Amino acid sequence: MNTKQRYTITAALPYTNGPVHIGHLAGVYIPADIFTRYQKAKGNDAIYICGSDEHGVPITIRAKKEGITPQQVVDKYHAIIKKSFSDFGIEFDNYSRTSAPIHHETASDFFKKLYDADKFIEKTAKQLYDAQEQQFLADRFVTGTCPKCGYEHAYGDQCEKCGTSLSPMELINPVSTISGNKPIVKETKHWYLPLNEYEKWLREWILDGHAKDWKPNVRGQVKSWLDDGLRPRAVTRDLDWGVPVPVKGAEGKVLYVWFDAPIGYISATKEWASKMQQDWRPYWQDAETKLVHFIGKDNIVFHTIIFPAMLKAHGDFILPDNVPANEFLNLEGDKISTSRNWAVWLHEYLEEFPGKQDVLRYVLTANAPENKDNDFTWKDFQARNNNELVGNLGNFINRVLVLTQKYYKGIVPQPEAFTDADKDILKEVKNYPKRIGDLIERYRFREALSEYMNLARLGNKYLADEEPWKQVKQDPERVKTIMFVALQIAAALSVLGEVFLPFAAKKLKNMLNLQDISWDEVSQKDVLITSGHQIEKPELLFEKIDDETVEKQVQKLFDTKKQNEIDNQSIVPQKEEIDFDDFMKMDIRTATILTAEKMPKAKKLLVLKVDTGLDTRTIVSGIAEHFTPEEIVEKKVLVLVNLKPRKLRGVESQGMILMTETADGKLVFVKPDDEVSNGMIIS
Ligand code: MF3
Ligand code: ZN
Repeated sequence: MNTKQRYTITAALPYTNGPVHIGHLAGVYIPADIFTRYQKAKGNDAIYICGSDEHGVPITIRAKKEGITPQQVVDKYHAIIKKSFSDFGIEFDNYSRTSAPIHHETASDFFKKLYDADKFIEKTAKQLYDAQEQQFLADRFVTGTCPKCGYEHAYGDQCEKCGTSLSPMELINPVSTISGNKPIVKETKHWYLPLNEYEKWLREWILDGHAKDWKPNVRGQVKSWLDDGLRPRAVTRDLDWGVPVPVKGAEGKVLYVWFDAPIGYISATKEWASKMQQDWRPYWQDAETKLVHFIGKDNIVFHTIIFPAMLKAHGDFILPDNVPANEFLNLEGDKISTSRNWAVWLHEYLEEFPGKQDVLRYVLTANAPENKDNDFTWKDFQARNNNELVGNLGNFINRVLVLTQKYYKGIVPQPEAFTDADKDILKEVKNYPKRIGDLIERYRFREALSEYMNLARLGNKYLADEEPWKQVKQDPERVKTIMFVALQIAAALSVLGEVFLPFAAKKLKNMLNLQDISWDEVSQKDVLITSGHQIEKPELLFEKIDDETVEKQVQKLFDTKKQNEIDNQSIVPQKEEIDFDDFMKMDIRTATILTAEKMPKAKKLLVLKVDTGLDTRTIVSGIAEHFTPEEIVEKKVLVLVNLKPRKLRGVESQGMILMTETADGKLVFVKPDDEVSNGMIIS
């Protein structure tokens, strides 16, 4: 056997401000779990490292909102998240947390080492400050308009619309998320990592170097970051929740969460090593070790540029061998969102589908957002369960085990001479470990799983061709051979399935009464399960999921959507009272839009010709971003006709069209009944 390859496999540390959902599993934790299980099955020395990311502004905001401390927030969610992972068979070697003392110490030492080696720039700069709350507004403590794309709810660290990474001072019209105040500008001192100095090295290392075989989505992002040019990046913050900056003159400052969190991979490895009485250093310092970061696409810059630059600046650590980032998983056509409760939460799934962890693991792998965003739907979940798990894999196993019980009381029969078809099958089974393994090594988990299912399909086809249930009458000796061959396939499925469907594979192994066949033995051994071996009573591996069950889930999402609409509808308080005469001063008429065209060089304005019943007049309306001219021509509307005319971009507007908006902020016309003719007064 080859010498063991050492792997340090990490999965992004989840933020501890909410539970985990299917998007997390599909994008990060399942692929990393499959990869690690596979490396271990191959006999490699692999560790799977993760933990809770417990610092950062969103956690403080959550604590403020709930009236508890940040520590209470992270304690609560750390427990929930950790349990969800373990319930779903995500087998970490260590699941740590960044509030742990070992992490504070490791992150602090890391910073200190860079500081002492003069790797930082110390800079006093203007920052946004909430004067009333007496707090600097870092990261998510401030929102405003994105300078790149104009999105109005961009955060101080990132615009979630266009993905640009931002700093608070770049936001247009910034607002404090703590108080809603308009911030003032105040000076403060911070330490910056001069990423620009690493640009050349990064380019060589990533784009020209060994990272040639990184996924195209990852390389593409890296390239665009580098082409944009890198700037020094602040690695400290004026906050009180986090790892304190360990130098003089930095009181009241903590490390930026994205500085401390990836160091969490190192601290979690140390914690594991000390529990196991092992040396942690080879996992981070031996050049032969392969470091692999599993992440979602929003984390790419941190794992391909910033953290590598930190590791390079430090000098004692290896760099990632690969960063197989996934795209996003959507849910029923909409972006998954913790704040909008648009998610399938793992702990809730388990309450409604107890024991069905592997079904979700299967669907999320088969449908993983490997190269593009993908959609999870309950219909697809049901179809994959019923057609693939029950119809293919479960069906094959059930037939083999039931027939073995029925014909031989569960004892593996003695085969006669193999036919060519038998030999082909047995030879083909031996190809699967490598075929599946090669795909896993290339981070193509969907295809790997689909190859695994092809092995079950091969088994079903074999049984369908040989029809042991028919042959058993005329040629019982032949049937012994058929069942022997089919049992070899079942045994192979139990071994190779362990990486994808650990619960079902274990159950299958138990039913086959098998132990300790290794991945490679499936391709090496002629016989995996020997004649005379006693197997156990069969049970179903998977069950059908009926329409009613999935409809209930769809309904639940529908209810969430409705609830969100209600919650978002901010009903403005009633205005000051007015007299009847005030009302009667307004002349509102029914009217029809005759023509509409875009105002040249004005993004928002449409110039309308409107038949008010009194006349045909021009009205300039700021709705161009909501409607095309074509879609509003011939619309019946209400117009305030006696509003004093005013010029907009040189065009006189003679009135105002009445509008309102829907719960999700869409502009709509207030519209009279179709039978009303133009010019009628509203009173
Ligand atoms: N908490 C981050 C997120 O959920 C991921 C942190 S990854 C680490 O997006 F490298 F910083 F650990
Ligand atoms: Zn933007």
